[in-house]
Amino acid sequence: MGFGGTIGIVTFFGLILAVYFRDTFDPDSIKGKRVVITGSSTGIGEQLAYEYSKLGARVLITARREKVLQEVVSKCKELGATEAFYIPLDMSNKSDTEKLIQEAETRFGGLDHLIMNHIASNYLQLWNGDWDRYQQVMDVNLRAYVSLATSATPLLNKSKGSIAVLSSVAGKIGVPFSALYSSSKFALSGFFNAYRLELGLQEMDISITEFIIGSIDTKNAKEYSKAVFDENIFSTSATDTAHRIMKGTQERERIVYYPAYAFAYTVFRDILPGMTDKLLLASIKTDAVETVSKKP
Ligand SMILES: *[C@@H]1O[C@H](CO)[C@@H](O)[C@H](O)[C@H]1NC(C)=O
Ligand SMILES: *[C@@H]1O[C@H](CO)[C@@H](O)[C@H](O)[C@H]1NC(C)=O
Repeated sequence: MGFGGTIGIVTFFGLILAVYFRDTFDPDSIKGKRVVITGSSTGIGEQLAYEYSKLGARVLITARREKVLQEVVSKCKELGATEAFYIPLDMSNKSDTEKLIQEAETRFGGLDHLIMNHIASNYLQLWNGDWDRYQQVMDVNLRAYVSLATSATPLLNKSKGSIAVLSSVAGKIGVPFSALYSSSKFALSGFFNAYRLELGLQEMDISITEFIIGSIDTKNAKEYSKAVFDENIFSTSATDTAHRIMKGTQERERIVYYPAYAFAYTVFRDILPGMTDKLLLASIKTDAVETVSKKP
C-alpha cells in the first residue's frame, strides 16, 4: 500500500476515534438542575458543589459540620448557583439519609442528580478485627448509598434523573490498609450494577454512573494516607475530577475511570493479577506496616 493509502487509513480511524470521544457535554444543560451532593464540606464533594454552581444549578449539600457547610453554600451562591442550601446530617444514620431526600423534595419539588460522594473517614490501618469500625464503614459507605438511592428513586423516575456513585480504584482491586474501604466499594459496584438492570426492567429511566477514581489531590486523602503512600501520587486536581463527575453524570455514562490509570488497573487485575499487585505494592512505603501498626 502506498504512502497516500496509509495516510487515508490513519485519518479514517482518527476520525472514528474523534467522533467516538468527542465532547458532547453542553454546559447549559446543567443550568437549573436540582442536585444533591453528599460529603460536600471538603475535597471532591466541595469541588462538585462549586462546579455545579458555576453552571447555575440548584444545589443541596450535606455533611456533618454545619459551619463548614455554611461557608461552602455562600461560595456556591457567589459562583452563580441558582439556589444553594445545606443541611447538616450524619450518613451513618439511616433516618438522616431519608431526611436528605425529603429536604430535596421540599426545597426543589424534585431531584435531577443524586451525587453520592461521602465516605467514613478513611484512615489507613491493617484489618485487626475492629467490628465497630466494620459497622461504621459499612453503614456510611454502603448502606447510606443504598438508602439514598432507594428514597430518591421515585423523584428520579419522575425527572428521568441520574445517580452518581463515587467509587475508587480500591473498588476494583483490593488495596492494603484499606480492606474495609475496598470491600464497601466493591459492594457498591455489585448493588448498583444490579439496581441499574432492575430499574430498566421496571421501565424507569434513571441513569447510574459509577466513577472509578484514582488518587486525587485532596487534604484528607493526603493526610489519611501519608503513612502508606507517597504524597506525590495524589496529583490529580480535585476540581478537574469534580468537573468530570458532573459531566459523566449529565451524559448518563455507565462507568467513568479518572484519571486513565484507573482503567489500566481495572483491566489488568484479571489478566495479570500478580503484576497488578506488584505495581500496587511498589507504591507503598517500605515501613508502612510498622508505621500504621504503631498508630493508636
Ligand atoms: C438518627 O437520627 C434521628 C433523627 O434524624 C435521631 O432521632 C436518632 O436518634 C438518630 N439515631 C442515632 C443512632 O443516632
Ligand atoms: C416512572 O415514571 C413513569 C413516567 O412518569 C410512570 O409512568 C411510572 O409509573 C413510574 N414508575 C414507577 C415504578 O413509579
